[in-house]
This record gives sequence, structure tokens and C-alpha cells, in this order.
Amino acid sequence: MKDKTPLITTELPGPEAKQVLEKDQRFVSQSYTRVYPLVVKRAKGAVVEDVDSNRFLDFTSGIAVCNTGHCHPRIVEAIHHQAEQFIHMSGTDFYYDAQSALAQKLGEITPGPTEKRVFFGNSGAEAIEAALKLARYHTKRPRILAFLGAFHGRTMGALSLTASKVIHERGFSPLVPGVTHIPYAYCYRCPYHLQYPKCEIACVEWIREDLFTRSIPPEEVAAIFVEPIQGEGGYIVPPPEFHQKLYELAKEFGILFVADEVQTGMGRTGRMMAIEHWGVIPDIIALAKGIASGMPLGATVSQTEVMNWVPGSHASTFGGNPISCQAALTTIALLEEGLIENAVRLGEYIFDRLRELQKRFQMIGDVRGKGLMVGIELIKDRESKKKAAEERNAVIQSCFEKGLLILGCGENVVRLVPPLIITRNEADTALTILEEVFNKVEKS
Ligand SMILES: Cc1ncc(COP(=O)(O)O)c(C=O)c1O
Repeated sequence: MKDKTPLITTELPGPEAKQVLEKDQRFVSQSYTRVYPLVVKRAKGAVVEDVDSNRFLDFTSGIAVCNTGHCHPRIVEAIHHQAEQFIHMSGTDFYYDAQSALAQKLGEITPGPTEKRVFFGNSGAEAIEAALKLARYHTKRPRILAFLGAFHGRTMGALSLTASKVIHERGFSPLVPGVTHIPYAYCYRCPYHLQYPKCEIACVEWIREDLFTRSIPPEEVAAIFVEPIQGEGGYIVPPPEFHQKLYELAKEFGILFVADEVQTGMGRTGRMMAIEHWGVIPDIIALAKGIASGMPLGATVSQTEVMNWVPGSHASTFGGNPISCQAALTTIALLEEGLIENAVRLGEYIFDRLRELQKRFQMIGDVRGKGLMVGIELIKDRESKKKAAEERNAVIQSCFEKGLLILGCGENVVRLVPPLIITRNEADTALTILEEVFNKVEKS
């Protein structure tokens, strides 16, 4: 693991990996979305080693989770230390300081007054479920707005807010009633065929002028759920005015603004919370993924007056597990001690180099994102902007074969989500591989 360059010495999957894959196919649910056969043995920093001793550079962070890198020594120490004290007692029925200290800290690092209240679960979907229940409970209103392209998770409530891919929904209806999906500010493919800034953010105005006059009584809407940057939907960054206008609309009608920061939060975009880029103070923020460097944890952070539910109304046996809470406290310390700054620096570097590549490769239609949340939208050609879905999949496969782990999002977008600890050298290695791969795929 000392040498950090990718090194592939077997066919992929290698012989050891094949055995695990066989077992997986027989015994594990086949509902997951694996796109290449990586079988992990160990990981450190931004490097993952597979069971056949192949070495990969990880630009996925285990789907935007290991923001502090794999097995950061201080995270390992925090987990170890807490495991020696006690592993579980349940914050639902008992108290421990790791949970209350983390709640206090989350209030401080999220926008708005530093004192807030936090509900703890185990995942992004649970953080969203809690937000959904809280929004209804607090406002006593039944309806919810969410966005087309949104991904909020796969439990029934979270799935009802999700509108990312039909496969997520097929066969699972009926979902939770009362959810209306509206178009997101996807300027590269504006759903209204308008152009920013001439559009004057018509997508928000449409909610006021059309939706709220013809279809949905606004006084029945409890909350608007929104990802500051749409994640699974294609790393879509809305224009500077979007969230502010959406927030103003929400406030006009007494609707809660819920930011789903599950993927965008915890330093990923070069700010602790991505919504800070837009200067909005959400009523509720959902967090998970990067919050505890790989330990399972979800958090629903709410303005104090909003979280007014009573004992027994919502809880979770494992939520806010002490080991996860300690890992989260150490994660936040590491982010504050320099990792967010690194995300800004390396993000700028990667975007500059990708924009250079965009000039050379016709298939790169759009390069977008913030910090180390980087999306590259691939197209057939610049005129038609037809989505290059197969080419995107070919890019991901070829990168894997060359030792670079990346993921897709949307139908035709490559996403780069490296750990926030990456060095310039690691960024260069990844970009060199990407360049070779774009060259190969564009020619084929
Ligand atoms: C924005 C967002 N919200 C919620 C979720 C669901 O998180 P989990 O898979 O931990 O349930 C995800 C997962 O990708 C996500 O990206």
C-alpha cells in the first residue's frame, strides 16, 4: 500500500475476486448497482487494494462517504477508543455524551443559529424519513414538493421523494401520497428551454404562478425537499439565485425548506454545507454519507423551534451509535483542520484541467460541480447534445481497467468524488488516466 500509483497485475476480476463474486451471486440480494467487479481487501487514504493485490486510486470515496480518506489514523483511533468503552446502549432509551456533543457540534457547523436540535438515524434515507415526518408533524400539513431528478433514498418515504430513475420505483407502488415533483434548475438542459440568466429563474416562478394557482394549495404544503446540488440525478449545479428564490417562495407560504445534504455536505463542495454557496438557512438539513468517515450515521438537523415532536414520536435503536458519533466528531475536526481547504484547492485544480480537456474532446459537453464534487456530462456531439450513455459506461469500465475507480450519475454523467485528502499527484494520476480513456472512447 506504500506505492500510491494504480497497479493492475491480474485480469479483472482476478482469481480471488472471482470466488467472491460467485458467492455474492448465489447468496446476496442482486438488487445492488455494481458496475464493475471490484472486490476490496483493504484501503488506505485514496488507495484501494483488491483481493488479488491490484491497486486502485479511489475517486468514489465509497460513494461520497470516506471524505477523510480510507482508514484515517485519527478515525481508526476514535473508533477503537470508543469500542473499548462501550459499543452500544441505544440513544433512544439512554444518554451518552458522544451523541449530545455531536448534536451540539452539528448545530454549530450548519447555517443559522448555532443552537439547533438533531435526530440521529443510521443512513441518508433515515435522515430524510425523519425530515419528512418532522415536516408533517410540525406544520400539520400533508403535502410535499420535491424535484424531478432528485435522489433522497430508497425507504418508502424517501423513495416517494425520489424521482431519479424509474427502476427505483418500478414494482413498489403505491408510495407515500402527497408528493409532487417539479423540474429542477438544470440549466444545461433547461426543462423550459430557456437560457440563464434571461430566464430570471422561471423554474421557481412557475411554482408560484402555475403550480400554486392551478393544482397545489400552497397552505397544504409542509416542505420543499431539495438537494443543493443534485447528486445521483447528474451532479447538477443550479444557478446562484435558485435556492434563494426557492427559499423566499417557501417562506411566503409558511413552507419548510429542507436541504438534503446527504451527498453534498461535510466539506464535499469546499464548504461544510453546500447550501452555504447559496447563502440560505434551511429549516431542516439531512446529513449522512461523509458525516462519520464510513461508520453508519444519519442526522436530521433542525432549527430548534421546528423539532417540536414529543417523546415516543420518533426514534431508532441504533441511530446515533456511540462509535459513529465519535467517528463523526473526529471527521468534523479533520474537515475543520484543513480538509475543506484542500477540497477547494484541489477542486479548482481539477476543474481547470477538465475544462482544458473539454476543449479537446467533443464528448465532454459540460463540466460542473463545486469543490471535490465533480460532474462531467458526456454527449454524442455539441450540436444535438444527445446523451452519450454507452460512452459514459465505457469510460467508467476503462478507468477501472486502468486502476481508477469512478462512478456515474444521471444517464450520461461521470462523477469524481475523491476523498478530500487527495494530493496534487493523485489528482494528476486520475486526470491522466481519464484523458487516455476519453481519447480511446471518443475514437472508438
Ligand atoms: C442526496 C442523497 N440523499 C439521500 C441518499 C440516501 O442515502 P442512503 O443510501 O445512506 O440511504 C443519498 C444516497 O445516495 C443521496 O445521495
